[in-house]
Amino acid sequence: MSVDLTTVLAGTSFPNPVFTASGCAAAGQELHQFFDVAGLGGVVTKSIMLNTRSGRATPRMAETPSGMLNSIGLQGPGIEHFLDHDLPWLADRGARAVVSIAGGSIDDYARLASQLRGRPGVAMVEVNISCPNVEDRGQVFACDAKASSGVVNAVRKNTDAGIPVFAKLSPDVTDIVSIARSCVDAGADGLSVINTLLGMVIDTTTMRPALAGITGGLSGPAIRPVAVRCVWQVHQAMPEVPILGMGGIRTGLDALEFLLAGASAVSIGTVVFGDPTAPVRILDELTRALEDRGIDRLSDVVGLAHRPPRTFMPEEPDPVGDVMVPDVGPDSAPVPVEVRS
Ligand SMILES: Cc1cc2nc3c(=O)[nH]c(=O)nc-3n(C[C@H](O)[C@H](O)[C@H](O)COP(=O)(O)O)c2cc1C
Repeated sequence: MSVDLTTVLAGTSFPNPVFTASGCAAAGQELHQFFDVAGLGGVVTKSIMLNTRSGRATPRMAETPSGMLNSIGLQGPGIEHFLDHDLPWLADRGARAVVSIAGGSIDDYARLASQLRGRPGVAMVEVNISCPNVEDRGQVFACDAKASSGVVNAVRKNTDAGIPVFAKLSPDVTDIVSIARSCVDAGADGLSVINTLLGMVIDTTTMRPALAGITGGLSGPAIRPVAVRCVWQVHQAMPEVPILGMGGIRTGLDALEFLLAGASAVSIGTVVFGDPTAPVRILDELTRALEDRGIDRLSDVVGLAHRPPRTFMPEEPDPVGDVMVPDVGPDSAPVPVEVRS
């Protein structure tokens, strides 16, 4: 059986749902020695800023149980270098570039978006709003609904019509749905869920923080249940808004979990540092997982976990498995249950 892996994000079609995650694969060149990056659904670039940045002092990485803590500080060569070198490289290979942008003010974001206008190879813009707002005492945009909406509004206004703008949400908020809603109201065509969680490690030998930046972003399998919960909540509140889900995905089944929660595509991040072939392996495992479940269209599983709970008579033995009904949507009747004795 062949599975139709096509996924459509805000009107733009991608051949499959597996993307890289911002900051974990630069602009794709390093991964290209392991596999053809044009075979992925999309390549999400490291967040690009207006100017060259050397990032934070070292050490910038620390290992944590089932996770990684980083405080890179958005190191990068800036938008001009990206437009002259990285974007043409991606476009020449036929890769679909999802350009992540980051800034310290609304004006930075607006200027970055306008510089991407009309550039071949840009399939989508992802707005990294987990950045300190220099005009508001360093308050992170993503943690405030008004600040998030200001950024998204500026990016949407300065981006070509037809190029989806996705706002990337932070899990470090009390109510992720309210931030998601403000981004969508401001013009976001979709949401990337989630960025890293703020964390900290103290080295008990030096008896000081392990990172020079003191705190850092936690990623990897440790954050997966948080990420799945965020995707679930956002999809439940706004099922019509496409989600690019991420956070600790290591296998095809992990990716399937995000799709079931409501993501239409997934980004693969931290796992790539230990296994650079992970995106293609995960795509292969996901395809087989869908085949094994008798599903022939990826779009049929998006949000499927939101269908009503199974119903069964009390005198029946506890059901063990579900019969998969690919057409079932959140509003459908309860799914028939296969009872195995
Ligand atoms: C080393 C590193 C650098 C990152 N840089 C960025 C970045 O530049 N922009 C961004 O939006 N997210 C960045 N992220 C966050 C990831 O894109 C992703 O949202 C997060 O790590 C969760 O996915 P994962 O657990 O699969 O890595 C970075 C993550 C890591 C580990």
